[in-house]
Amino acid sequence: MVTPACALVEIDGDELGRANHLQIAFLAQLLCQGVAGGFTALDPATGHMPARHIGMTHQKHPARVVKGGGTNTQRHAAGEQKPDMDQPRHQQCAPVAQLRRRHAVFDSRLRAALPAVMAHIMFRLAHISDIHLGPLPRVSPAELASKRITGYLNWQRNRRKHLFGNTLEQLLDGMRAEAPDHVAITGDLVNLATRTEIEAARLWLETHFDPANATFVPGNHDAYVPGAFARSTEAWEPWIASDNPASQGKLFPNCRRRGPVALIGLSTANATLPFMATGDFGHKQAIAAGKLLDQAHDDGLFRVLMIHHPPVRGATRWHKRMRGTGHFSKMLKLHGAELVLHGHTHLDTLHYLAGRHGDVPVVGIASASQGPDSHRPTAGFNMFEIDGDRDTWKLVHRRMKLSGDGAGLCQTSTGQIKSAAIS
Ligand SMILES: [Fe+2]
Repeated sequence: MVTPACALVEIDGDELGRANHLQIAFLAQLLCQGVAGGFTALDPATGHMPARHIGMTHQKHPARVVKGGGTNTQRHAAGEQKPDMDQPRHQQCAPVAQLRRRHAVFDSRLRAALPAVMAHIMFRLAHISDIHLGPLPRVSPAELASKRITGYLNWQRNRRKHLFGNTLEQLLDGMRAEAPDHVAITGDLVNLATRTEIEAARLWLETHFDPANATFVPGNHDAYVPGAFARSTEAWEPWIASDNPASQGKLFPNCRRRGPVALIGLSTANATLPFMATGDFGHKQAIAAGKLLDQAHDDGLFRVLMIHHPPVRGATRWHKRMRGTGHFSKMLKLHGAELVLHGHTHLDTLHYLAGRHGDVPVVGIASASQGPDSHRPTAGFNMFEIDGDRDTWKLVHRRMKLSGDGAGLCQTSTGQIKSAAIS
């Protein structure tokens, strides 16, 4: 029997989706072998088997992946007894939800460390926004002697009634059950950006998110008054900091690479006058972000832009708009991106902007703390499944929402949304 140097056996996509949390280390081993020794296709016509490890789904139990040692020419010499194929070496998957929880942290860390050659493994990205952690802590008269007085009154009149209860906890439970590889948080962790709120938000981040698996960009409420931006970004730095040396210590724009994905963080957060909630995206940030986009594209990564304000003209009211949508549009046309995530409007929206290679989806989401019985949509999160590589990206979007009756989460929309690299 001829034994090729190495063979990569592809597992059916559906089964891989369920089983790869368990088998990812094995798949990594296969690929490393492939890189070292060169890939050789398994030819079913000839029946030739590889000498090294192979992986395949179990015929009777497709949720299992069989790990086999391939063919050993010495052990399988002519006339020798055949191996017992009814007793393959296998590992059985636990129930899917349990499996996902158990392996989520390991899986995410491993994926973060994977080289580009592993980019074809599906990456699952969750997106939440506008947490507006409550209830509001005690605010001193000195702290209220600023723009905060308007925000304080707004909280007492409106937000306190709706951003309340266990909505956020329910949402996080539902999101954790999805076992995303990474969570993108697009701003407004706090309300008035007092020192107490900022510290409470840091503890909340620490409690719920490993900085390796979650990325944050600030919103206008995180920079509510002069000085707040510096304080909040310093406190939440582990969830913000770039891992790209090209950023040279600057907070924004930044780039965090996780598996096949480049998360490029932008900031529009500025302290504004009372009754204003605008954001700013300037020329300098657009130029710097363009370089990061090009670099990520050259490295074959799926590029996700994270920004608080919607970079779409007319997406919100005049006093809440982003200034600099022209810079943003020009940046997309010059450099492209595969996905833009934003918050700020507290709405479930999907827009498209023209990119270098085609239209780029721009996705917003309701506030993660929005309870029922409001004119605003109830809390939800976006789930994205990113698959493929530079020329064949597939982006599947699901929107998960808390049902108005408090019965839990429901999926309100799903589908492959168009991406620049898909067109
Ligand atoms: Fe908000």
